Amino acid sequence: MTDIPLPIAVLISGSGSNLQALIDAQDACDGYAIAVVISDRPEVRGLGRASEAGLPTEVIPWADFDTRRAFTQAVCDAADRYGSRGLVLAGFMRILAPNAIERFPDAIINIHPALLPAFPGAHAVEQALEHGVTITGVTVHFVDEQVDHGPIIIQETVSVHPEDDVATLHARIQQVEHRLLPEVAAAFAQGALTIQDRHVRWVRVPKEATSR
Ligand code: GRF
Repeated sequence: MTDIPLPIAVLISGSGSNLQALIDAQDACDGYAIAVVISDRPEVRGLGRASEAGLPTEVIPWADFDTRRAFTQAVCDAADRYGSRGLVLAGFMRILAPNAIERFPDAIINIHPALLPAFPGAHAVEQALEHGVTITGVTVHFVDEQVDHGPIIIQETVSVHPEDDVATLHARIQQVEHRLLPEVAAAFAQGALTIQDRHVRWVRVPKEATSR
């Protein structure tokens, strides 16, 4: 039996289109419930999306902290205050310190706009175009101590077209992101994901095995 719906915190830094996908899917998914939306930047579009959906928001400005560890502690404390049992990084552009993993072991999920381990970091779409790959994609993975490195939950390819620029390619990547992230968040909430070394096993949980 898992605790359904599982409260999660969604961490954002910008437009929050992935947050919107999580909001739109949450009622029907039988998995997660967004307990709080946390942003490291004030006045971003994602905070407006959260408010429009009636979700609590917390702004934790990066500049207010002397160390990554202190910033991370404040983020985890905010998530805790709302009873969050996992963190979903949905376009969150800050690197969390290892104390986040101590606080939320095997319970932090990130989405990345490339097929990791190719093109980690903040410029994955630009780098894919510069490199001339013909296939890139989306990775959803658990977060570990290294950047864009933890165990991979799911990947899906996206073709690069000869006429693509960053905007057109990123738009096609985001269509995939918006489908995959809610699916993964629901699977995590249902207890369907188990990690062994770098391998994630995804067991589909029958509906009657979950309880409200
Ligand atoms: C996404 O493409 C995500 O993969 C990357 O940042 C982007 C955030 O977009 N890490 P949004 O804020 O969800 O619209």
